[in-house]
Amino acid sequence: MTRVVTIDGPSGSGKGTIAALLAERLGWHCLDSGALYRLVGLIVDRAGIGFEKGNKIAELGRNMDVEFSPAGVMLEGEDVSIAIRTETAGNNASKVAAIPAVREALLQWQHDYAREPGLIADGRDMGSVVFPQAEVKIFLDASAEERAQRRYKQLKEKGLDVSLAGLVAEIEERDQRDRNRSVAPLKAPDGALVVDSTGLSIEEVLATVLEQVQCTFPDLEV
Ligand code: C5P
Repeated sequence: MTRVVTIDGPSGSGKGTIAALLAERLGWHCLDSGALYRLVGLIVDRAGIGFEKGNKIAELGRNMDVEFSPAGVMLEGEDVSIAIRTETAGNNASKVAAIPAVREALLQWQHDYAREPGLIADGRDMGSVVFPQAEVKIFLDASAEERAQRRYKQLKEKGLDVSLAGLVAEIEERDQRDRNRSVAPLKAPDGALVVDSTGLSIEEVLATVLEQVQCTFPDLEV
């Protein structure tokens, strides 16, 4: 069985950064499951399909032509790396993510990432639904204000024009939807190590996670 470390948490908690750094450090694969939901959201938005068309959206998700390459995220040969990172794309992602048929359709995509020597899986339900057998489960949290600040900095650095107040409102709205949906709501899975990263540096969070990984897999060189 391939070793899996799951990192779940709300948007802006830093899980994407920590997952990528951890994967690089260990030489493992990395699954950014949010990108899959963002891609489905983008497809739906572009096709002008209503969010109530659950089965149709699930079918589009199951059959999407996507490639994650070092050059970027390619959708039908087009680089959509930036298009899927906007706040609108995040909101559309959270809308399609509330549809049970869509979550079901994306399961296979996600399971296919579990390959040797190991996988770091980043998302909302990695430890609870997608990889319940994972040996290490982390739940990364931070206050809504701090998460909005981090997102603001990230988006500004990418040259995107955003307002901080707008981001706080959007993050709170998205949290609300992610935590209260009936299927796979965002919450710390059983057995997870909960890390509140408010006020912590990336290095401090990474050190905490690495310690947990080392404890669980003593044979690994971290
Ligand atoms: O992590 P990211 O912000 O890219 O995720 C975008 C949206 O996709 C989240 O707000 C959430 O609604 C949804 N998502 C999810 N389950 C996952 C990953 C993301 O529901 N495993």
